[in-house]
This record gives sequence, C-alpha cells and structure tokens, in this order.
Amino acid sequence: MTDPVRLLKADRDSARNAGDPWADLCVVASISPSGEPRSRVLVLRDLDDQLALFFNASSPKSEEFKQSESLSILLYLHAVKVQYRLTAAFTEVDPNVVAESWKLRPLVPRKLDWLYATRPQSSSVPSREALLDAIDRIPETTTAPSTARGYILVPTEIERLDLDQPNGIHDRRRYKRLDDDWHEAVLIP
Ligand SMILES: Cc1cc2nc3c(=O)[nH]c(=O)nc-3n(C[C@H](O)[C@H](O)[C@H](O)COP(=O)(O)O)c2cc1C
Repeated sequence: MTDPVRLLKADRDSARNAGDPWADLCVVASISPSGEPRSRVLVLRDLDDQLALFFNASSPKSEEFKQSESLSILLYLHAVKVQYRLTAAFTEVDPNVVAESWKLRPLVPRKLDWLYATRPQSSSVPSREALLDAIDRIPETTTAPSTARGYILVPTEIERLDLDQPNGIHDRRRYKRLDDDWHEAVLIP
C-alpha cells in the first residue's frame, strides 16, 4: 500500500531540487473563534521523519488552531504539478527541541518573537516607524521566549492531485489512515 507521507516527501524533494520555492511552504487553514475561515502561509518543516509547523503563541492562529482537532493544509508544488491537501491532527513539539531550533532563527525573527511578549503578533502598531523603533530596542538573545511553539503534524487524510498526465486527465487519490494503515481511493478530478 502506498504511504502518502513518503510520496509527499519524495514530491517535495523533487520540487526542491527543481528550485520550487513552495517546496518548503504550505497554506494552513483554521477556524476563528467566531467560526470564520482563516488561512496563512507557513514554513512546512521536516522534524526527523515528521512534518512540523513553528509559530508564536501570541498570534491569533494559536487560538484558532485550538478550535478544532485538525488543521487543513494545502501545498501546491508547481515544479512537479502536484497539489496536496492534508487533514492533520497535531501535537506539541518538545519545548527543548523548539528552544534549540529557535537559536537558528535569523536575528530579526528572533527579535520579533521577543517583541510579541509585549505586543502580540498580528496586533496593530501606531506606525511602521514605531514598529522599527520597538524592534531596535529588543536585545539580541538566543534564548527562546516561552511563546515559541512547534506543532508536529499527524496526517489522518492526504489527497494528492497530479496534474502532470499525458492524457490530460488528472490523477486524484485520497489516502485515509485507518488502523495504522493507509487506504487509497481514486477520486474524480
Ligand atoms: C513565505 C512565508 C513564510 C512564512 N512562514 C511563517 C512561519 O513559518 N511561521 C509563522 O508564524 N508565520 C509565517 N509567515 C507569516 C504568516 O503567513 C502570517 O502572516 C503570520 O504568521 C500571522 O498570521 P496570523 O495573524 O494568522 O497568526 C510566513 C509568510 C510567508 C509569506
């Protein structure tokens, strides 16, 4: 039986080798506390053999992620003409792993993560100048704030749409995880 997680990894590797900038990105959709849909681009990280997202708990997405037991994740790998739609449960990355990985972040994202302690991510500021000034005042550190978060994704459903078919009929398959095994269904594209 095809393992769609391995398939996804192989497609991302091919896309990365072909210089596809989306190979390391995804769109994560969630539901706001008032039930509205929300989406944003996040880096899709490989953590050992698992997929992970890193973000700051001060951001609105942090509350939104808790509104349901799964996230909806979209990838389009243009270089290989393949779309993936994932439904994934999630568990927190060990805070020690988050803290180690956080040290490798570039300076500006590190400073921003500390700024969020007093000004939450996605909140408004009086002006861009005020923002730049506030960032300037943040001391340089490699100690992660307690709001640095990582989620390991545990996909329960993976849909792959392969546009690259010589006869023009897209190859669409859905994989559902049942009893530790993946079950495949061919879908009408
Ligand atoms: C290419 C790209 C990569 C991004 N990667 C991340 C990321 O890994 N983590 C993150 O929190 N935001 C990332 N962002 C910013 C998010 O899209 C978003 O603007 C931000 O997280 C605030 O979202 P929120 O208001 O829904 O919390 C990225 C944006 C782009 C365009």
